[in-house]
Amino acid sequence: PISLQHLLPIDFHSIQEVPNSHIWPKINNFPISLDEKPPNVPIIDLLAPNIEKLIGHACKTWGVFQVVNHGVCLELFDEVESQARRFFALPAEQKAKVLRSSASGGTGYGAARIAPFFSKLMWHEGFTIMDSPLDHAKELWSHDYQYFCDVMETYQKKMKDLSYKLWLLILKYLEASQQDLFTSEYSGALQLNSYPCCPNPNHAIGLAPHTDSLFLTILHQTNNTKGLQIMKKGHGWTSISPVSNDALIVNVGDLLHILSNGEFQTAYHRVLVDQTKHRLSLAYFFGPQVDSLIVPLISSKDNVGVVAPKYRSVKVKEYISLKAKHNEKVLSLLRS
Ligand code: SIN
Ligand code: FE2
Repeated sequence: PISLQHLLPIDFHSIQEVPNSHIWPKINNFPISLDEKPPNVPIIDLLAPNIEKLIGHACKTWGVFQVVNHGVCLELFDEVESQARRFFALPAEQKAKVLRSSASGGTGYGAARIAPFFSKLMWHEGFTIMDSPLDHAKELWSHDYQYFCDVMETYQKKMKDLSYKLWLLILKYLEASQQDLFTSEYSGALQLNSYPCCPNPNHAIGLAPHTDSLFLTILHQTNNTKGLQIMKKGHGWTSISPVSNDALIVNVGDLLHILSNGEFQTAYHRVLVDQTKHRLSLAYFFGPQVDSLIVPLISSKDNVGVVAPKYRSVKVKEYISLKAKHNEKVLSLLRS
């Protein structure tokens, strides 16, 4: 992988034309089989009975689902979106003052983490919040920083609670009775994504195809703007349009795929850009602590001793460094 320093986002405010650095071969928008109506990503009502079965089924067949009736109010999404827009609207020199770096604990502005694996750049800029954005916000807005921090903190808390709720349902479905999974500490991070209007959306990509790393990603596409697509076996790239203004999309990440012994699919997804809409998304990554050991679960319905683990056990730390080096090849490296 190339160093991230060479991969800073460009000044999207002043751009009239897509520079060569961002021109991709024609982006194919169509499903493979054109004569078939693309199937819809499962929509799960969190107030429905037996939802762990619905969630488990969606994770097995799709690796992604939308949730409604999750209890997070629309006003909060609007507040986070407007603070995120306030940040991304800053001049490029301002945003460059708060770059993401290991010294900043991973919080900050920058290109997508997968950028080093591609020879072309993406039509995207992001702001990652690992813990608190306070230091960065003070740097940007010497007086007016508190509201930004409060809104992000409230949102992170809501997403943490919702992730945990979904997590317990998933463990129930997987018959994971190990105490340590229920009592562990988990980690979470919030990523604000911005996909500015693009003069040539057929030759640019918001985010190149990838899988997320941790257990679950909870994603909100603001302002009802689609752009996210998932690779569905037999159908090709399938768009995920928000079912409502407050719908959330949940993705299965690599570590949950491993934990489920390959039973749950890891969602392979990408983001397209639009000529007239500046799309924002909010992604909350939920996963284990870096010191945890991920051991594939063999459920009792699979007859322990008959079904073999498909992956070797891996420490989260080791997995993260393998992914940083090998990107999506990481799963084949861990196969047992
Ligand atoms: C992501 O893949 O992390 C973001 C997806 C999106 O913006 O829809
Ligand atoms: Fe992603």
